[in-house]
Amino acid sequence: MLRRLHPDQPQSFAFTPANQAWAEAQIAKYPEGRQASAIIPLLWRAQEQEGWLTRPAIEAVAEMLGMAYIRALEVATFYFMFQLAPVGSVAHIQICGTLSCMICGAEDLIGVCKEKIAAAPHTLSADGKFSWEEVECLGACANAPMAQIGKDYYEDLTADKLRQIIDDLSAGTVPVPGPQNGRYAAEPASGLTSLTDAESGRTQYNASAQLATDIGDTVKRIDGTEVPLVAPWLTKSARAAQKG
Ligand code: FES
Repeated sequence: MLRRLHPDQPQSFAFTPANQAWAEAQIAKYPEGRQASAIIPLLWRAQEQEGWLTRPAIEAVAEMLGMAYIRALEVATFYFMFQLAPVGSVAHIQICGTLSCMICGAEDLIGVCKEKIAAAPHTLSADGKFSWEEVECLGACANAPMAQIGKDYYEDLTADKLRQIIDDLSAGTVPVPGPQNGRYAAEPASGLTSLTDAESGRTQYNASAQLATDIGDTVKRIDGTEVPLVAPWLTKSARAAQKG
């Protein structure tokens, strides 16, 4: 599939101060002359901030890393995780259409996206709030069918559940991610049959759903203030420079 930059591009891009600090910390992980190795995390953070990867963002990242723009463009156009067209202002919905999900109802979920968002993928809904696409296996096959919405997985979906999730998001509430059929994680629907000791000490939701709920970053555009910047290698390299 040919992946091109979108014809309508914003004039400029700048990381927020916290994202800039995060990006500089990532670059510092690599030895002198190897800064280009930070290309994927930086492009990803630019996308998390803006929702999609704009041409000015790709250029800004290339400049930060001392790379030719075409090299950064090659990376952005190669990986499908980079969205090269504007996405919904509230959420971009990625429906897994691979085997387990397809057998368990992915086509119904895609039908909901066509009905409620837009007939074609990578197209904004009439109100600009949503967009959708079909993606390959997201590794949650035991909870098929599923969708990734923003940073999180919504699993064990039905068409009605997905309709409700889209309505809730549209109304400004973020539904709790994770299994949508009452399961805690990927255990049998009737409950654990082994490792039953692991049931004690549970948080309210499973680990990833709990973290998403605690941080509240599910569909949020990431500005870098969500979690503290942790970069222990910065102190190590400062110490090494002092010794050296
Ligand atoms: S087939 Fe859908 S998550 Fe693996």
